[in-house]
Amino acid sequence: MKISKLASGLALLAISGVAFAGNGTGIASTKHNLGAGASALGNKANNTNGTTEICVFCHTPHGGNQAAAAPLWNRKFSTAGYTRYSSLGTTTFDAAEAPIGSVSVACLSCHDGTQAMDAMINSPGSNSPGISRGSSTGDNGWTETNVMSNLAASDNGNSGDMIYLGTDLRNDHPVSMQYGGGGFSSSNVNGPSIDPAYAIAGATGTVGNNSSLGGTGRVANRTLGNNLLVWYVDTNGVSGQQKDDFTLFSRTDGPGANAGLNQPYVECATCHDPHSTNPTFLRLSGGNTGSQVCLTCHTK
Ligand code: HEC
Ligand code: HEC
Ligand code: HEC
Ligand code: HEC
Repeated sequence: MKISKLASGLALLAISGVAFAGNGTGIASTKHNLGAGASALGNKANNTNGTTEICVFCHTPHGGNQAAAAPLWNRKFSTAGYTRYSSLGTTTFDAAEAPIGSVSVACLSCHDGTQAMDAMINSPGSNSPGISRGSSTGDNGWTETNVMSNLAASDNGNSGDMIYLGTDLRNDHPVSMQYGGGGFSSSNVNGPSIDPAYAIAGATGTVGNNSSLGGTGRVANRTLGNNLLVWYVDTNGVSGQQKDDFTLFSRTDGPGANAGLNQPYVECATCHDPHSTNPTFLRLSGGNTGSQVCLTCHTK
């Protein structure tokens, strides 16, 4: 299962790895540039001039972490336990949750504030024991305590700030849970969703409130070269999966309806693309203008 999840990541890597110019127009011009040159970006707490290899903070070409489906992942996952959204106890939450996993643990390996942002498996260079921390441009500098939870307020990183999610996820949009309250699976590929309050009720279902984007708002699916079935929410009406469609992450490790079958899950990278230059790394070019991200899934 881990292998198929990794394969899923790698397949995405192969077919859609086109968006990185590396010249300041891609991820280099975003807050996810933690390397040299980033200080001009207003991202002053979280970068070092010790390396210009900006991918290395998240990816390694060899020896990546296979414990979850994050491609060539260059960080260990936090050993902290997460308090999941369901423990809030709302009486309307009707999706089954898998363990916090898939790409979400990869995001949380920085955003839960338990690990330093330069804590990587494979540092740049030849058998290098670690990057030079260089001279820091931040108030906190590059130390092992340079975690999101203790960044200074002036660095847009104090604990009240939204970039620091912590390990208690009850106050965050749920992740690692079934899309639409369940209903889609490898044995029921086109759904519909069990929860009717979704824009999408199967491949032939209702067009949701987000139709102003030009998308059908429906769940589409495709089979990758390795035969893994994957789903996504169409936001643009263009056939096939594009970067602004919302990826649903295929998992087999969840409980609830259709347990054990491959099903689509909502994870951090469903709504966010960590390389995007869109506002707050969202998949839609206008960010969440007009709540368009929300309305892509919820009929409200
Ligand atoms: C802040 C962390 C982070 C940085 C920095 C980063 N990535 Fe990623 N990357 C991710 C995550 C998380 C995923 C998985 C996203 C998904 O599954 O949708 C990913 C996926 C990918 C993929 C496969 C999916 C796709 O979108 O094509 C490629 C290729 C990739 N990254 C290349 C790069 C390159 C090249 C760089 C440096 C220029 C880079 N990444 C920098 C976090 C990062
Ligand atoms: C290597 C560490 C690291 C990883 C992994 C990482 N981030 Fe970040 N992220 C950061 C830093 C550092 C910032 C900028 C903090 C600041 O200076 O405001 C940031 C900022 C953000 C922001 C705020 C952008 C803004 O304009 O305010 C979002 C949203 C975000 N990350 C989402 C994600 C998601 C989603 C993932 C996984 C797909 C992810 N991050 C993975 C380090 C990371
Ligand atoms: C259902 C969609 C969705 C999911 C899932 C999701 N986010 Fe977000 N996230 C958003 C939206 C929308 C915003 C608001 C952006 C704005 O106001 O411009 C946001 C904001 C953020 C911000 C704050 C940006 C800022 O500076 O205020 C961070 C950091 C972030 N998300 C990280 C994550 C991480 C990490 C995960 C997974 C644990 C995650 N998100 C899961 C939709 C989502
Ligand atoms: C990719 C699809 C998707 C997007 C985009 C999305 N959601 Fe959700 N949302 C879900 C799913 C799936 C659930 C859990 C199933 C359920 O209980 O309905 C959920 C649950 C919720 C819940 C209810 C939790 C409960 O306790 O009943 C709220 C409120 C919510 N989302 C608000 C938002 C807001 C606000 C946005 C935009 C910032 C947003 N969602 C974007 C899919 C999405």
